[in-house]
Amino acid sequence: MMVLLKYIIVILAGLAIGEALSQTRNHTKTDVNPINLLDKFHQNDYKLEFERIEMVYVKKQYIKRFDFVTFKYNRTTAVINATCEPRIDLGYEHDLVLQTYKLASNEYRLFPIRFQVNFCEAFNKNVIGLQGFKRCGNFTGCPLSKNKAMTVCNWSPDASRFPPHIPNGRYMIEAQGLFRTTELFVARLYATVYRPIVV
Ligand SMILES: *[C@@H]1O[C@H](CO)[C@@H](O)[C@H](O)[C@H]1NC(C)=O
Ligand SMILES: *[C@@H]1O[C@H](CO)[C@@H](O)[C@H](O)[C@H]1NC(C)=O
Ligand SMILES: *[C@@H]1O[C@H](CO)[C@@H](O)[C@H](O)[C@H]1NC(C)=O
Ligand SMILES: *[C@@H]1O[C@H](CO)[C@@H](O)[C@H](O)[C@H]1NC(C)=O
Repeated sequence: MMVLLKYIIVILAGLAIGEALSQTRNHTKTDVNPINLLDKFHQNDYKLEFERIEMVYVKKQYIKRFDFVTFKYNRTTAVINATCEPRIDLGYEHDLVLQTYKLASNEYRLFPIRFQVNFCEAFNKNVIGLQGFKRCGNFTGCPLSKNKAMTVCNWSPDASRFPPHIPNGRYMIEAQGLFRTTELFVARLYATVYRPIVV
């Protein structure tokens, strides 16, 4: 019963985010911004084992370089170092379209969480712990300027800032980076959701 209830909550959360997204696509002033949902997420129901971020491709005409290194920070935590240098002024107009996939039968399959967020707003509101970028490296926030390299180090997503009731499993979040409607890059983040067994 409890499990069923949790799945229903997950589906509802997915629908709420989907609804927020579809309203975001409709460019009217009455838009529901998914950030207003995302920045409220707090959970301590599950843990997140961050595995890595992989760059699928970068459009070199817009981004001079965007490098990631994932490494073990200690026995349990993986972190990334990243350097990004845009060739154009992105200002505050950098959006991310995020699609979640869940591993099932050795294949990542669509999981019903998809939304588009403005990166600068997400950073300001600490979505998934993005404020942690400020702890190491020289990234301080937007605007994102042309020919200005930004570095982030020892960062990993903050599980407590993720939506509650996500089922255990391995996930991949595909992020498409946009400047207005122009695609800049596609990256993938891999992580496992688990609940430690209480003995
Ligand atoms: C956008 O939303 C407004 C207000 O909800 C609605 O009146 C309008 O028909 C929508 N437009 C599209 C293209 O869906
Ligand atoms: C690993 O580092 C993270 C981040 O500083 C910390 O929260 C965690 O407790 C550490 N784990 C171990 C096993 O030291
Ligand atoms: C950030 O650090 C990188 C690498 O050290 C450097 O190339 C870049 O100029 C720095 N950016 C700023 C804004 O200080
Ligand atoms: C990550 O960045 C930190 C700070 O610049 C540096 O000390 C460390 O060696 C880097 N680690 C890797 C694996 O590149």
